Amino acid sequence: MEMDLYRPGCPRIPNHSRNPTCTSQLNINAMKRPADDRTPARDPHRFINDLEPEMINRLVERLESRGKDRVFTRLFDSYSSRLGLQSGAQVLEIGCGTGVVARALARKDDADIHITGIDHSPTLIRVAHQLADEEGVSNRLTFEVGDAHALAFQDTCFDAVILHTVISHVGEPATVLEEARRVLCPGCTLVVFDGDYASLTYGYPDSEVGRKMDWALARAAFNNPVVMRELPWLLAATGLDLHDTLADVVSEIGQASYFRSLAETYAPLIAPAGLARQAEVDAWMDTQRKAMQDNRFFASCNYYSALARRMD
Ligand SMILES: C[S@@+](CC[C@H](N)C(=O)[O-])C[C@H]1O[C@@H](n2cnc3c(N)ncnc32)[C@H](O)[C@@H]1O
Repeated sequence: MEMDLYRPGCPRIPNHSRNPTCTSQLNINAMKRPADDRTPARDPHRFINDLEPEMINRLVERLESRGKDRVFTRLFDSYSSRLGLQSGAQVLEIGCGTGVVARALARKDDADIHITGIDHSPTLIRVAHQLADEEGVSNRLTFEVGDAHALAFQDTCFDAVILHTVISHVGEPATVLEEARRVLCPGCTLVVFDGDYASLTYGYPDSEVGRKMDWALARAAFNNPVVMRELPWLLAATGLDLHDTLADVVSEIGQASYFRSLAETYAPLIAPAGLARQAEVDAWMDTQRKAMQDNRFFASCNYYSALARRMD
């Protein structure tokens, strides 16, 4: 099915290959890697086109359930209200997944804006089209397959660019920021929202094993787990002026939903990536599930929104 016949707004680069990262369906076992702290594990979002359909479905469910989480909708509302979007604005969401953020922007009826979402997963783009149709917001949205490292759009054609939990997953954060800057109009804003996954932590009786499992989970799930603390340097090197930041702690104490889904989605990747033994992962997961049942759960992670302006 051709997904991008209707392409309003920003002009495309002629003959641009918009799907350079798509690969054939490989086995999830391809995600095995040695436990080398300098070598990131195979982040499933980065290598989503290599995953089995069952794992992609799990990621789809997680994105959609997170999109309904009140904590995350509050964080999205906080940064999006600072974008100052005017009527007629063209917004680009890079790494839009199933379109949670794009749909939320499209539902805001106070601004007549158009949102273009790109993602390198054809499956997620298909789901994004379907959900936008079901919600009746597709007139404000365009979704297409594309790579964040080589955007198909001409220079200076968007009034805002959003990277919502994407910079932690991409192969080359600096290249993605350069591309975001290139397509932004002068004076317009890029917002980067993501976690600092060195702060991701779950309660565990043995604190040493607990710390090891926290970092194993972060490395299994994110190609760039600490990129948010590198962002001020990366933005400056890209010629973007950091002008506003928001910091939030996301935590669940007693019960869990967001951190339950995070653990259940990514803990199965830890042992195949060689980041811990399967027995350690199983014991850790059992302890987390029991803590959730007994109202004794604890987990938390810091999230940041960085707003940066293109000056020239
Ligand atoms: C955690 S999801 C976030 C999706 C969406 N922004 C949201 O918050 O619901 C990360 C997304 O980045 C996409 N992604 C990762 N690397 C990419 C790349 N090089 N080009 C385009 N999309 C990419 C993945 O396919 C995935 O949909």
